[in-house]
Amino acid sequence: MSDFAVLKARAAALTGECPWTTLALALVGAGWLSTYVLSFARMLVDLARPGIPLKKFGAKKGAWAVVTGATAGIGRDFALQLAGAGFNVFLASRTASKLQEISDEITAKYPQAKTQVHSIDFAAATADDYKALGVALSPLDIGILINNVGKSYDEPTFYQDLSDQDIADIVEINVNATLKVTKLVVPGMIARKRGLILSVGSFAALIPSPLLAVYSGSKAFLSSWSQALGSELEGTGVHVELLNAYFITSKLSKIRKSSWMIPTPATYVRSVLAHIGVNGGAVGQPHISTPYHGHAPVQWVVDHLFTRSWWLSYNRKLHVDIRRRAIRKRERLAKEAKSQ
Ligand SMILES: NC(=O)c1ccc[n+]([C@@H]2O[C@H](COP(=O)([O-])OP(=O)(O)OC[C@H]3O[C@@H](n4cnc5c(N)ncnc54)[C@H](OP(=O)(O)O)[C@@H]3O)[C@@H](O)[C@H]2O)c1
Repeated sequence: MSDFAVLKARAAALTGECPWTTLALALVGAGWLSTYVLSFARMLVDLARPGIPLKKFGAKKGAWAVVTGATAGIGRDFALQLAGAGFNVFLASRTASKLQEISDEITAKYPQAKTQVHSIDFAAATADDYKALGVALSPLDIGILINNVGKSYDEPTFYQDLSDQDIADIVEINVNATLKVTKLVVPGMIARKRGLILSVGSFAALIPSPLLAVYSGSKAFLSSWSQALGSELEGTGVHVELLNAYFITSKLSKIRKSSWMIPTPATYVRSVLAHIGVNGGAVGQPHISTPYHGHAPVQWVVDHLFTRSWWLSYNRKLHVDIRRRAIRKRERLAKEAKSQ
């Protein structure tokens, strides 16, 4: 008799003598499975429910929404849609001419919305620049802050090959600017007993991202900070939320074609504004929201299936491959340029 046959015979004898062992194992299995089913169902129900209405943060009551990185991509759509929802908008971004363009577009589309533009390079902003920003913000009744500005890598790169400037810029823009702008805005929100602070995070923090280590770490900082700050501000009327974003078409993502899983900034922002306070794919995670229906199941899968090591090595292979293709493309373009 083979070892397997012996084991099978013993198991059959055991369960025959003690049917409760089979039952116990079945119960453990069913319990384990049902946590997964319940968690998935919780995500679906969550995605179907409406979020906190924007009027709670001062829509149509003269309140302002402050948007950083407001001239392109996700930030531009936050500015437009919040103006459409009844906020005045304060646009803080790097390029003055682009700020004027978006301000003009808002005024043409939503004449009732006031706009104010403030040019600031968050990579190089000094204490005086933040003082000037504080002076511009201080008279405003700010209901919403969108910490959107962010910088990533041009292409996946090994840490030792990143320039010191890129490392400094990513930390300055993604981490320090968020901390400093929030500090300027939060006391007024607490005093008025209402406010919403949304910071745009990334799936690059959900699974640590090799070859994007600094970007990934900066977004992990935002995730942890948002949860801690959200808890500190409970009971003050100020709601804090980190948006866990997967891919969205934009200059930063270098993705032009949208799909069910990769929305345009307009679709993404619409989904965010309709789901404030809703966890969506971030099931049970306080102050974190993955509200877009094409992103939520991806987060659920990452959170529930396979191990951290598996996802880490999956991400490493993915980014090594993206880097290889980016280098090949660069070399091809250089060759073509030379031959012309
Ligand atoms: N797109 C995605 O797939 C994706 C996924 C996850 C998370 N995110 C996050 O979403 C946020 C927005 O990304 P996006 O894709 O919308 O980016 P984007 O299209 O490249 O837009 C970036 C915006 O930030 C401004 N900006 C860039 N550097 C700045 C600086 N040093 N100082 C001031 N403003 C600056 C840009 O202004 P200029 O026009 O002057 O450059 C522009 O308005 C980022 O935090 C990003 O990490 C994006």
